[in-house]
Amino acid sequence: MRTERESQIAASLADRFARTRALSAELAEPLSDADATIQSMDDASPAKWHLAHTSWFFETFVLRDHVPGYALHDERFPFLFNSYYEAEGARHARPSRGMLSRPSLEEVLAYRRAVDEALLAALPGLAPDAAALVTLGINHEEQHQELLLTDILHHFSVNPLEPTLWQGAPKVPVAMPGPIGWIEGHAGIVEIGHAGDGFAFDCEGPRHPVLLAPHALANRTVTNGEWAAFIADGGYRTPAHWLSDGWGWVQANGIEAPLYWRMEKGAWTRFGLDGRRPIDPAAPVTHVSFYEADAYASWAGARLPTEFEWEAAAASHDPASGNQLDAACPVEPRPSADGAAFFGDVWEWTRSAYLPYPGFRAAEGAVGEYNGKFMSGQCILRGGSCATPRGHLRASYRNFFYPHQRWQFTGVRLAKDL
Ligand SMILES: [Fe+2]
Repeated sequence: MRTERESQIAASLADRFARTRALSAELAEPLSDADATIQSMDDASPAKWHLAHTSWFFETFVLRDHVPGYALHDERFPFLFNSYYEAEGARHARPSRGMLSRPSLEEVLAYRRAVDEALLAALPGLAPDAAALVTLGINHEEQHQELLLTDILHHFSVNPLEPTLWQGAPKVPVAMPGPIGWIEGHAGIVEIGHAGDGFAFDCEGPRHPVLLAPHALANRTVTNGEWAAFIADGGYRTPAHWLSDGWGWVQANGIEAPLYWRMEKGAWTRFGLDGRRPIDPAAPVTHVSFYEADAYASWAGARLPTEFEWEAAAASHDPASGNQLDAACPVEPRPSADGAAFFGDVWEWTRSAYLPYPGFRAAEGAVGEYNGKFMSGQCILRGGSCATPRGHLRASYRNFFYPHQRWQFTGVRLAKDL
């Protein structure tokens, strides 16, 4: 017999599951079957694949493993929609995800509806360990909502027509922010990592002490206007600002500006989910790589923060505040009136490598592959972006990408030693 408290927890989990699943479908709503099928680069996945893969996650780890008698919606789908789980066996190659013209978008949406129905029916009877996997699946789907948006932006960017996914609202002119101010950070021993009962990914713990040297963080992120000054000052042509790997990347790829920027009639424009528009000089710069972030910091006489400096400063801020994803619309970083905002707008590159915290142990079984096996050669980003679903973030949240990658909404907060 369930207690009233257990029934309330199951009901709120069902509600969050339904809302999360609905938002994914809403984000894909403007897409044709062709839009949802294409794959513009190996790093990005088709929208249809995101919609199916997130369903596969619930079907595999909850319905198949915890609901007696559940029959797979389609026996062929696990091969197509397993992303990287070796424990789940062979799978379709990632760079070929754009070859899947079948199943159609309509068939994938039917797969989603079937999984939703089965999961909502099973949820009230799930044991706590299975319910915890539903929570993990919801957080997983929220990550894919952000990827769905950044991937479709990339797919559209390589089409010379530069399609517009949503019409943007008219831009209201905003005053340029003043010069960067510096906030002195916590120095000495600070506690880092997730604590408490709420959900966190395994890589956010264990909580542990870290020693911080005296330092300060900028009170806001770097703007497009400041980035344009870096370009005008020869920032992309001056090797002294760049890490060796970064300079090699600039040379090999002819990098001259953030991704999606283009010079038109003497002025910088950018491509976004609302099409091509002039850059907003007051808004945070985005779509820059770790290499670019580090070079900018060097040019500015500063450095990037460590992930620990960032977390110590952000711990007193509301992770649900700021410009984050609430509904299907042309998300983009916005000029912020709140100079101290730590969450939303752009993921902030840190100089910290993605490494396990002391005492880290990956979970048993396939879901143990979620984070731990990627702790090699990647950099930590903190704070979330305009495409991160509101409610998904925490001060301890660790995102990670390779240093050359820049198709996410990635930006820069400066730091300096004191
Ligand atoms: Fe995934």
